[in-house]
This record gives sequence, structure tokens and C-alpha cells, in this order.
Amino acid sequence: MRTEQSKTIYLKDYQAPDYLIDETHLTFELFEDHTLVHAQLVMRRNPALSADLPVLTLDGQQLELLELKLDDRALSATDYTLTDSHLTLQPTQASFVVDSSVRIHPESNTALEGLYKSSGMFCTQCEAEGFRKITYYLDRPDVMSSFTTTVSGDKQKYPILLSNGNPVASGQEDDGRHWATWEDPFKKPAYLFALVAGDLWCVEDKFTTVSSREVTLRIYVEPENIDKVQHAMDSLKKSMKWDEEVYGREYDLDIFMIVAVNDFNMGAMENKGLNIFNSSAVLARAETATDAAHQRVEAIVAHEYFHNWSGNRVTCRDWFQLSLKEGFTVFRDAAFSADMNSATVKRIQDVAYLRTHQFAEDAGPMAHPVRPDAYMEISNFYTLTIYEKGSEVLRMIHTLLGEEAFRKGSDLYFERHDGQAVTCDDFVKAMEDASGIDLTQFKRWYTQSGTPRLAVAERYDAAAKTYTLTFIQSCPATPGQRESDKLPFVIPVELGLLDAQGDDLPLRLQGEAAAAAGSRVLSVTEAQQSFTFVDIAEKPLPSLLRGFSAPVKLSFPYDRDQLMFLMQHDSDGFNRWEAGQQLSVQVLQELIGQHQRGETLELDQRLVSALRTLLQDGSLDQAMVAEMLSLPGEAYLTEISDVADVDAIHGAREFARQQLAEALFEPLWQRYQANREVSRTTPYVAEAEHFARRALQNIALSYLMLTGKPEVLAATLEQYEACDNMTERLTALAVLVNSPFEAERSKALAAFAEHFKDNALVMDQWFSVQAASTLPGGLARVQALMEHPAFTLKNPNKVRALIGAFAGQNLVNFHAADGSGYRFLADQVIVLNALNPQIASRLLAPLTRWRKYGSERQALMKAELERILASGELSADVYEVVSKSLA
Ligand code: ARG
Ligand code: ZN
Repeated sequence: MRTEQSKTIYLKDYQAPDYLIDETHLTFELFEDHTLVHAQLVMRRNPALSADLPVLTLDGQQLELLELKLDDRALSATDYTLTDSHLTLQPTQASFVVDSSVRIHPESNTALEGLYKSSGMFCTQCEAEGFRKITYYLDRPDVMSSFTTTVSGDKQKYPILLSNGNPVASGQEDDGRHWATWEDPFKKPAYLFALVAGDLWCVEDKFTTVSSREVTLRIYVEPENIDKVQHAMDSLKKSMKWDEEVYGREYDLDIFMIVAVNDFNMGAMENKGLNIFNSSAVLARAETATDAAHQRVEAIVAHEYFHNWSGNRVTCRDWFQLSLKEGFTVFRDAAFSADMNSATVKRIQDVAYLRTHQFAEDAGPMAHPVRPDAYMEISNFYTLTIYEKGSEVLRMIHTLLGEEAFRKGSDLYFERHDGQAVTCDDFVKAMEDASGIDLTQFKRWYTQSGTPRLAVAERYDAAAKTYTLTFIQSCPATPGQRESDKLPFVIPVELGLLDAQGDDLPLRLQGEAAAAAGSRVLSVTEAQQSFTFVDIAEKPLPSLLRGFSAPVKLSFPYDRDQLMFLMQHDSDGFNRWEAGQQLSVQVLQELIGQHQRGETLELDQRLVSALRTLLQDGSLDQAMVAEMLSLPGEAYLTEISDVADVDAIHGAREFARQQLAEALFEPLWQRYQANREVSRTTPYVAEAEHFARRALQNIALSYLMLTGKPEVLAATLEQYEACDNMTERLTALAVLVNSPFEAERSKALAAFAEHFKDNALVMDQWFSVQAASTLPGGLARVQALMEHPAFTLKNPNKVRALIGAFAGQNLVNFHAADGSGYRFLADQVIVLNALNPQIASRLLAPLTRWRKYGSERQALMKAELERILASGELSADVYEVVSKSLA
């Protein structure tokens, strides 16, 4: 609970550690009602600092100190100072050994940080500051040590005993216990420590590295899940190969292990040689996991594996540098997923996610720079800004430097800093040194928060045959940063100019010798800046920010006919989708206005005809067609509103969907039937072309059902019952759940729950589909589901599946005008605050966006935040988010 943690910590106060830990020797004795941890720390004064010997302050929380020794001398209570977060003692020599024994209680750890139990097994989560709940230590990433770990436990209950590195010894004891010792030769900070003990089965495989070393790969799961591991194993091998080929990075230990656990706060954790995963990020097979889940598993396996270099071999000096490893690693996993699947579709999905969620964060009370300069609780900074915007920052560096120089830069970074804990500045310096490009101004992306706006105006001079684009950039105020203090960013704008046939014109800027074909990147570096293209014989149509080359809010006064033209002709696939989104946004905003004025809603028929053209073109990538049929979501429409009118947004969007369904019934029905026929006759394959077919089939079905036609209901039931995979089954279920066919809906829900009652991850889907249903009465349904035997607040996946989906995806119900949704969420946050502060704090996010809504909702949301604040002792996690939201 909130003690010293609610102090703000500043980057400017960073100081190198007074002492270093060269070796860490740990012994864990696991019992049912407690665990004993013995730590031997071989330490010395940091040689970079003066020779005097300041006091040594070790971090430690919720530890019962049983014994403490300094160089074999037992210390008594007068020799050290103990608080609820630190142990302080006075070394007498420059090199010394500290021995401590503590008792901890993993069996009652519901925060899922440090050592805890999940479904009967022991496991750990130490990032960012969980190791201090295991033993007294210098729990900071710039203290890197070798680790030897011995684990002992009951052999029957915990036949598998794992830690980082290589297994070096094991043995039996007479009392039914056994032990194993692991040695990790690579120095690492404590946040990368891991331990697992349980009754687990594993799938084993081999990978031969580029230098012909053989690595053993093991994925450990509970016995009943052993049939759901192959996809993760395939993903791991692809990741290892990709990192060798694209980044020249080879794996370094003889064994690489992944363990799946059911109770986990985040997706997964990159502990050296022993990744620990949320089971939702490992387990996947056709019958139980959707296409999206398969792709998520592939991406997270890759992400954690890639951390072995971008995170473990080179780590962060302090937690302000978190994006050094997370932004870079997300950038790497996105490129991997793009290579494994459709690159354009991956980009579309990432951008839609960024613009909906990260842009909202960047405009809210928790907005912070990619490299923050202050925090109260670091767990609150595992954010979309650190991860997703951080990845966009890396992507811009890649765009500015080009593929080859970027690779030289990353090689130099790894070579220069291998084995070190470094900063974002060190990364950028390596990129600069390798490329010769000055990134001084570019670094503002790391220090200025908020989403930049980029307004573009055009001027065509027919006589001179010149075409001028003028860019004006600005960035709104964010907490602690006034708009007037923000300096211009370096914004790479990839663009093309289309002629009347839709072809890219050759591009030559005034002063350049020769024209280059197609797309090019302009660097916008000033608050206002113009670029003039010459030899432009006719007024072109600009295609701006291709591939979303910078995370900005671009505006250009396109009319709807121009957007339709870009949708069809732009050579950049991302911008074809983007033109469709902009067209939809214009059309939806018009409907929102009509709704607010109480007028009859009227859909612009140009949207209908644009989508008809897409549906009728059999040559297009089906995944692209599916993406283009998806209207901008309610959360995105909220994000781009000045004042979000929840009911008008929902009403307008549903009206548009209904109209599209009716107008496009024939082509939708044709595409649906053709694709369902292939699904019916082809066994499930988790590959891009099949993802694409099912994506179009499923979005078509969700439109078709809006017509309520009996043949669609029959098709939905056929798909629900006869399909061989979760992608089709869950879509059919969701379509029924949102339909007016009450009897069929209840029957399908009951059958689904009965069939999958023993599969927690599938039941999560069942909860989510219902939580997200926008039919009236949403809160009552969610409250009833909380009583379901499969639901528990103690499991983060369940909390996310039910409460998170309700507050995040069911906007009309969550924002009910009487404030009942807000009250419900606050109640859950208050309960979770005591159980699991990290989950409580994340769940809170929708309430922090109160400034987006009209004054009545604002008052109701604020009242709930104030109620949380007054509810008793708050964790640092919840306190920071609530207090910043109300500030
Ligand atoms: N480093 C992990 C990753 O790969 C995330 C761990 C975050 N844990 C936490 N408790 N905040 O992204
Ligand atoms: Zn990560």
C-alpha cells in the first residue's frame, strides 16, 4: 500500500549505484504455507565513484528477515536499519558478502508481482520492481549480476524446477523433496530473474543457430494444454531465424524455455532463457483460439524472444528508459509480423490501434513523453506511449536513415553496449554515428508528449507548373508541458502526387537536378514549411503520410470524391485504406450531426458505392477488403470528437452499418457464401491467406445479420454448429449475441459454455462477447456474469474479458446517462486495489478520460474518481492515476 512509493521519482535525480553486485547466489525452499529465500550477494563499491564507503541501502518489501550476515558475521538488530521498503547497513570494506534469509508468502500473493502461485504452480514476475518482494537487493536495472539459483520443493507437487540459464545440478532428498540448481552466466538485472516450480509437461524441439550451435527449445504448460503448444513453438523458431537474418542476432544459451501461467498481469515476460507467458499468449489451436489469437501468440513469442538482445544483452539504465527496450522490441516484432503475414494489413491494424488508444492516452491526464521524466509508480508506465508510440519513433528513425544505415546503427548499438545498461540517448547516438545523420532535433520525440497536428495546404500554379505543399505543425498542451513551450518535431512525410489517371507523378523539388519516381519522404522540421514541386503539368491529388510515416494527426481538405479516387488508385495500400477511413469519418460525422439535431439520418450514397466497388473486385486482397469494410470504431470516433456524444456516435454508426447491410446485401451474401464454402471444405490453417478469407467472411456475416433475414440466421447457425475452428464459431456466436433472435442466442450461449466450461481461455471469449454486446441492459448482464462460476476477480484475464471489455468496448452501456456504468467500474477498482493494484490501475483508464464528455457525464465520472480517492488506503498504482486524473 501507499507508503514511500507515492513520492515522485525524477529522471534528473538519477545517480549511479553506490555498490555493485557481481554474484548472486539464491536458494529457495518452497513450502505450502511459506517460502524461505536465502541470498548471498557478492558485492563491491562501485569503482566509478570515490573510495569512501557510504551506507548500503537494499530494497525489500513484504519480507520477514530471519537472518543477516556481513562477511560471515551475524548482524544484530542494532547493526542495521529496517523499514517496510529498505534495509540499510554499513559496509566496512570495498568488497564484501551479504547473506540474508527471509520468509515470504507466495501462496497469498494476489498482486502477481514477485514470487506467487498460479493454479498450483510457483512462478515469478519481477519487472519492474518485483524482485524486492523476493529478497533484499539492489533492485534497479543498472545493477547487473550473474545468478546461481537452487530451488527445492516437494517432488510430487513440483516435479519441474526451473530458473534462468543452464541446469547444472539436481538431486533428491529423503523427505520427498528434490532440488535443482541453475546457473545464468550472463550478467543481468534482477528484473530478469525467473523461477518456476510445478507439475508441467513440455514440448521440446531444437533450433540450430547460424553458427551451428544447437539450442534446446522447451515450452512448458499444464498437462491438459500440451495439445495447444505447436503454434507457439513454430513461432519461436521463425523468430529465431528472423532475428538472425534481419538483425544478425544469434541466441546465446544452450536452452530457451517458455512457461505458460494462467494468472499473469501482462502478456509475457522476457526473463533470460526462461520466458514466462500469460497462457493466453502461448496456447493456440484451431478449435480454441481465433485467428487474432494465433497472430497475437506469434507476435508475443517473437517480442519476448527479440528482447534477448533488445532488453537483456543490452538493458535499460533506469526505468525512465523503458522505451529503449520496449519501443525497439515492438518495432522489431511488428516488422516480423509484417514479414510473416500481410505487411499492409499489419500496418493498418497497428495504426488503427495507435490512433484509437495511444492518441487518447496522449491527450489525457496520464500523457507522458516516450522517455518520461517523472513517475510515482513505474508499473503505470507500461503504456501505449512507451510501447506503441516508442515503436513509431523507431520506425521514423528507420524511415529517415533507410534500411541499410538503420541496420548499421543497430549493429553498432549492440556491439558498443553489449552487457551494459544504457539510455535512449545511447541508442540514438549509435544511430547517428553509424549513419552520419544528426538526430538532435529528432530527439524531441523522446521528450515532448502529446500528438502533433500537421495541417497541410496546397497551391497549384498552372502557368509555372509548380505545386506547393505547405505544412504547419503544432502540438497541444499536455501535463507539465505548455503548447507554447513545444518545439517543432522532425516529421518524416512520405508522399506521392497522383495524376488524373491515378498514377504517381515523377517528383522533383525546386532546386533538384532530376526527378525521382513514385513515393518520397520529406522531412518537415519547421513550424511552417513549404515544398515546391516543379514540372507538374496538371493539378495533382496528393497522397500524404503514406504508410502512416509519422504518428501525427494530419489534416488536408479532401472532398469525398477525392477520397474515393484515392481509395481506388493510390499506389500505397495503407493510404487506400486511410482514404476509406477518412471518407467514412466524414460520412459518420455528418450522421452524428443529424442525430444531434434530431433530423432524419441520411447516409451519403458515395460510401455505399465505394464499398460496393471493393466487394465486387475479386482481384483485391480479401484481408484488405475486410479492413476497408470496417467502419471506424466508436472509440476512435470518440477520440476525434471535441466533445464525444456517446449516443449520437453509437446511433450514427449503427445506422450506417444497417444501411450498408441492406444496400450491399447481394455482394456481401455472395462473398460470404463463397468464403464459407471454402472454410467448409478446407481444414483450418493458421496462415495469412486463410486469415484473409475468414476475415472477409466474418465481417460480411456481421453486416448480413443486421438485415435479420431468415437465410442469414440459418447461415449463422450452420456456421456456428458445423465449423472446425474458433474464428468462425466465435463470430457466429457474437453475431447471435448482438441479434434480436433471443432463443437462438440463449441456446448458442448455453451450448458454448457447456462445451468449453473447462477451458478458461475460451470462457474468457464467452465473457467478452457478452460484455461487448451493445443491446440495452449491458450492465445487468455483466453483473450477472460476475456471479458465473467461471468468473473470478483474482484472474486478470477474467477481469479484462468481462469488466475491461464492458468499459472499453461497450461504450453506450458503460456511459449510460445515469452513471451506473461508472459506479460499477469504480466499485471494481476499489476491490481490486487491495487484491491486485496493477490490474486496478489499468482498469481505471476509461474513467480518466472524463474531459472528453459532456458536462453531466463529466460530473458523474469525476464523482467516481473522487469516491475511489476517498475509499481508504490506496496503492501507489491507483493513487497516481486517480490523483493525476483529477488534477
Ligand atoms: N517486459 C514485458 C514485455 O515484454 C512486460 C512486463 C511488464 N510487467 C509489469 N508488471 N508492468 O513487454
Ligand atoms: Zn517487451
